Amino acid sequence: MRSTGPAGLRIKSPELLVAESGADLEGHGLKRTMGLFQLVCFGVGAIVGTGIFVGLSDSVAEAGPAVAVSYFLAAVTCIFTAFSFAELGGAIPVSGSSYSFAYASLGERTAFLVGWCLLLEYGVSVSAVAVGWSQYLNELLESLTGWHLPDALSAGPGEGGVVNLPAVVVILLAAVLLVRGIRESARATAAMAVLKIGILLLFLAIAFTAFKAGNLTPFAGAGASGITAGASLAFFSFIGFDAITTAGEEVKNPRRNIPIAILICIGVATLLYVAVALGAIGALGADAVADKPAALSLVVNQVTDSTVGGGIIAFGAVVAIASVVLAVMYGQTRILMSMSRDGLIPRVFERVSPKTSTPVANTWIVAAVFAVPAAFSSLDVVVNLTTIGTLAIMVAVNVAVLALRRSAPELKRSFRVPLYPVTPVLGVGFCLYLIWGTGWTTWVQFAVFLVVGTLVYTFYGRSRSRMNSAS
Ligand code: ALA
Repeated sequence: MRSTGPAGLRIKSPELLVAESGADLEGHGLKRTMGLFQLVCFGVGAIVGTGIFVGLSDSVAEAGPAVAVSYFLAAVTCIFTAFSFAELGGAIPVSGSSYSFAYASLGERTAFLVGWCLLLEYGVSVSAVAVGWSQYLNELLESLTGWHLPDALSAGPGEGGVVNLPAVVVILLAAVLLVRGIRESARATAAMAVLKIGILLLFLAIAFTAFKAGNLTPFAGAGASGITAGASLAFFSFIGFDAITTAGEEVKNPRRNIPIAILICIGVATLLYVAVALGAIGALGADAVADKPAALSLVVNQVTDSTVGGGIIAFGAVVAIASVVLAVMYGQTRILMSMSRDGLIPRVFERVSPKTSTPVANTWIVAAVFAVPAAFSSLDVVVNLTTIGTLAIMVAVNVAVLALRRSAPELKRSFRVPLYPVTPVLGVGFCLYLIWGTGWTTWVQFAVFLVVGTLVYTFYGRSRSRMNSAS
């Protein structure tokens, strides 16, 4: 362990992180059982969700048919950063992911702020995904019973309602399952991934029967700024690929399989997203899709002139998105456990119930806190906050690669980013470009969030850090 001057700059050595994680993971019997196919399913399971099923209509509102370019730009941003995740995941194979990477290279204060931003990538993302789930639940109710919940009870004030009850309910249900110790098994994750891809392929098969090239013009009516804003929104649909690096210790031949799986997942997602966007707009035109709830069901209903197809899409979306809520909430509780073990946030987050062996209080706090934005925020607000927080983390991860190559050149790395240092530098550049595209309202909200985080670290975390007793 090294302590380098001021508390905020002290780093936790990669060796210590790995040793601690070994202790934490004891008893889990981490065997290298995941092959490339399972890893790709795991990645697709974490990536494909609300972003394409729901967020597409918001990106189309910004970029028009050029949303296809927006998806491509978002994918390129992810690929550059994915290499950095792969290098750090191979060098420091612990479950804390970006938070641990930052602790090992950029110092405690930055690590705390990365952990703080993870509240956006995971916590606020739970709210966002739940809001998306609610739209498709209503669509499913409509197609099954001809009745749907009134707007007042199924949308927040920003979207013409009062409270989004289904979004709250899905979060509470996920919390009940998580405190009982129910996680998605590898088999369930693979089934969800196949279901999601199947539903999107069904959508494509129907939408392309009504495809008219004329609906794609004008292609880029909103210009470069529309494409940029669309790319920032589209980025949300790729969030989750970093989860692949968290499986580092359970993967066969990780040096080869992790980078390949990340590239395959981003490639599959990009192809699907671009095709779905072109299919939806080609069938009905951009204006008919922009800002519409449950847009994929809407397209199918209009093309088939029936509510059966849209109902099937809605059913797939309800099942698939619910699994994303569960997975992302699980991730949030585990990140808070890591930070709590390091002493940076209150102990209550690391307490595990002897009865269920799960962090019960932690899970209920997370559910209660993130049910609030789910109930009252509009989708674009929570999506933008998730996006800017995740992009900030990715900037830190790319910088961490540069810093660790200098501070620990001898560290064993199972994978090295190609074309170093060009790749991580381009990664930073693309992330900043997408941060730019989120717009000034989101910048201000994020700046306030960071100031609060800095205060929490300064007045709470710094003095309670376990590194105080260790250094
Ligand atoms: N990429 C995830 C989704 O679109 C967060 O739901």
